[in-house]
Amino acid sequence: MQTIRSIKKMQAVAREIVAKGKTIALVPTMGYLHEGHLSLIRRAKKTADVVITTIFVNPAQFGPREDIKRYPRDEKGDIKKITEVLGKAAADAVVFIPRGEDIYADDFQSWVTVEKLTKTLEGAKRPTHFRGVTTVVAKLFNITRPDAVVFGMKDFQQAVVLRQMTRDLGYPIKFIVASTVREKDGLAMSSRNAYLGDIERWEAVCLYYALSTAKEMVKAGVTDTKVIGSEMRAVIKATCRMAKVDYIAFTEFDTLKPVKTISKGTSCSLAVHVRGVRLIDNMKLL
Ligand code: PAJ
Repeated sequence: MQTIRSIKKMQAVAREIVAKGKTIALVPTMGYLHEGHLSLIRRAKKTADVVITTIFVNPAQFGPREDIKRYPRDEKGDIKKITEVLGKAAADAVVFIPRGEDIYADDFQSWVTVEKLTKTLEGAKRPTHFRGVTTVVAKLFNITRPDAVVFGMKDFQQAVVLRQMTRDLGYPIKFIVASTVREKDGLAMSSRNAYLGDIERWEAVCLYYALSTAKEMVKAGVTDTKVIGSEMRAVIKATCRMAKVDYIAFTEFDTLKPVKTISKGTSCSLAVHVRGVRLIDNMKLL
């Protein structure tokens, strides 16, 4: 597998791949890879001839109070994991690790913004976050020219926002969203779980318990989101005394429009602070 750090080199290699008549599947990440990321890489391998994984801890998507320096990194470990997962396909694969100053030059001033979908949920709490995500992903699309891209359902709103951007800007890219990979106890895998100490790790499962409770209630015929929401809060309180619920939202799956009554396609997303670590999760309820 080739490791490429220069944008020019990446562009040249992408052009060569296309000239050989091969297809490219892109998997953008911020590194510190876990099984969730690796499932996307496996999916990409099934989808196209060449897998390009990118590792870039994107400063533009961190808020002023979010510490990018603390974000976990393990470049060597990541490269090893990608190589193992790809097996024979590693021969043609690329890992692209651009430099921060190349992605954002000193006079950088052009942003890609998805307007409506970024106003709710995570966007309401982190006002500049999605602008950073859409801008870097557009740049990665432009540099690698993929035929397909794979994102995770774990970041539900991110997937919806990026799908909108892909459509709006007319990128000819097949947009794949892969299911959330969870730990044995149900906690959604995340690089940020590295911030959790032993007690927090126990308590972090409260998000999954709350979502599973919601799903069970819907199965049992409950459709009022107020009733489900308050039961979810009770479950969180019982599992994790220190948890602070940031939001619990019931929305249409595709449009992120809030709903009062559960119907086909309703999704539930939540963000919870577990002793200072902010965790997000989501589940399709029907
Ligand atoms: P990162 O958090 O590293 O995630 C990279 C990709 O992995 C995203 O598409 C995310 O949804 C997916 N992912 C994370 N945890 C997962 C899990 N448990 N199961 C399945 N997929 C999972 O998301 C980002 O980076 C950045 O915002 C990025 C898109 C790379 C732009 O900077």
